[in-house]
Formats: sequence, structure tokens, C-alpha cells
Amino acid sequence: MAFNSKDLLGIRDLTVEDIETVLETAESFKEVSARAIKKVPTLRGKTVINLFFEPSTRTRTSFEIAAKRMSADAVNISATTSSITKGETLIDTARNLEAMSPDAIVIRHPSPGAPHQLAGLVNASIINGGDGAHEHPTQALLDAFTIREHKKRISGLKIAIVGDIMHSRVARSNTHLLTKLGAHVRIGGPRTMIPPDYQKIAGACEGSLTVASSVDEAISGADVVMMLRIQRERMSEAFFPSLKEYSIQYGLTLRRLDLADRDCIVMHPGPINRGVEINSDVVDSKRSLILDQVTNGVAVRMAVLFLLVGSEAR
Ligand code: CP
Repeated sequence: MAFNSKDLLGIRDLTVEDIETVLETAESFKEVSARAIKKVPTLRGKTVINLFFEPSTRTRTSFEIAAKRMSADAVNISATTSSITKGETLIDTARNLEAMSPDAIVIRHPSPGAPHQLAGLVNASIINGGDGAHEHPTQALLDAFTIREHKKRISGLKIAIVGDIMHSRVARSNTHLLTKLGAHVRIGGPRTMIPPDYQKIAGACEGSLTVASSVDEAISGADVVMMLRIQRERMSEAFFPSLKEYSIQYGLTLRRLDLADRDCIVMHPGPINRGVEINSDVVDSKRSLILDQVTNGVAVRMAVLFLLVGSEAR
């Protein structure tokens, strides 16, 4: 199977075949992380730059580990320690990085579309590590990988995505990906945090996306419950009265989880806010795959780097 793009900017642009190619390639890379010597020569001589304008624990670290496990040179740049603090623009930063011949640049930026802007300017492969509330494609790919690992399929599953949908790039990328692979996605959360364009996306998804009228309705009978953090850093107004009230009305408790299918799995992209959108007893329960998601993030990012800069397919 082929993956013919120079960049990975969003799930919306990917075909089902592209997604399957990433997931199958990730399966072949997963065992590298279980070896005593966690290294293969696949990307020797390649350079990967992590250019992060927002905080990150999982995405940045797993891209760095993925690059290093494939013998690439990995370089991390954060906004606070770069010349961006001296007024350099994103475009000039990218042009200067390009002058050092990187093979891939992973960018996280608060502005939707920033990775797309760079993709048209530089020869290096651009990977979207999260752009504002727009997309986070590698998170959706690792989520799909994790669901498939545990459920053996995605098609036909009922998947609830619950929380601050409005500010979530994870919700958007997962909605595109999971509906493309045949899942039934139910969106739940405060009405004030479900943007109107989800109804439009629902139309484009040919009936496989519904906006539930309550969290309980979203979760009822679900095979997968994916909880999302409230992204207070992206809010300029109050969307709910208090965190306590949010937790009572929309938070995932073991009692609420009883509404889901008895074999339901629980996911969260992290960082989690225990006691707000999800209770500790759910986070630490056997149903929780939150740390499996993190483990699989390395394999999926190895696959993405390999397909973009390490294979001859391009
Ligand atoms: N899920 C996720 O993107 O986590 P980080 O913000 O820590 O990268």
C-alpha cells in the first residue's frame, strides 16, 4: 500500500487506504519498543525537528523517541527558547530551519492552519502535531490503533466523544477518522461547547455522526468512551458555571460508565484533569486504556515518520 503525501496535515485529507497503511505500518513497528535494544537503522541520516509553540508532554516526547528509535537525529525547539521570543516570524523560523536541511518538521501551533502554511514553503515533510482547535492527526491515528488493538475492529463500533468539543482538535480528527473507518460516533457535552459546524460535519458523515442530547445518551451502549479535557487556555468566556457543576453533569464516573456496553473501553488523549472530566477510579480502572494510548503513540509516530521520510513511496 502507498502513502503518497509529502506532509501529514490532517485526517480530513486522508483516504481510508492511507489510514490503513499507517495503522498496519505501526503494527510492524510496535515490537521495536519491546526489544532490549530499542533501535532500528530505518531513518539513519535523517533529521526530525520538533517545533512546538504550545506545551506538550506526550506528542513531543513520543515524536522524539520515535525518531531516535529509528536512528534519526531529533532536535527539539520550543517557542520560549527560540528566536521567536525576539520577534522572528513563523515563516522566517521555518525558512531558517529549512536552510539546515531537515527531513521532517513536527509543528504544534495555537493557530489553525499554521502547519498548512509551512507545508507550502519548505521541502521538508510537515507533520501537524496539533494546530489550535483544528486537527491533531497523529492523536487520532494512535487512538484508532488502540481501539483496533483491543476491539479488533472499528467498523460498526459505537464511540462516544464527550467533553469540550468546541476547543478540541482531538475530537475533530477522531470524528473524521472514526467515521471514515465505519464507526458510529456520538458527540456529547455541554451544548455551549458543541460548535454548530458539527451538525454540518454530521451531514457530511452520511449519518454516522450524531450529536447526543446528553452525556448519558452519548455513553449509553457505547463500545468506546473517549473523554476530553476542558481547554481553559483556549477560552475567553465562561461556558459553564463551575468546575464542580461541570464534573457532576458531564464527568465520567464508574456509575455513569454502567450505561455503556459491559465491555466498553475508556480513552482520553491526556492531559487528564482527575475529578473534573473523569474520576480517578475510572482512570485507574481496568477499562482505562489511557496509558496504552501513550505507548501506541510511539509506534504510530514511527510509522508516520517512516512513511513520510523513510520509504521510497513518495
Ligand atoms: N494528547 C496530547 O496531545 O498530549 P500533549 O499535549 O501532552 O502532547
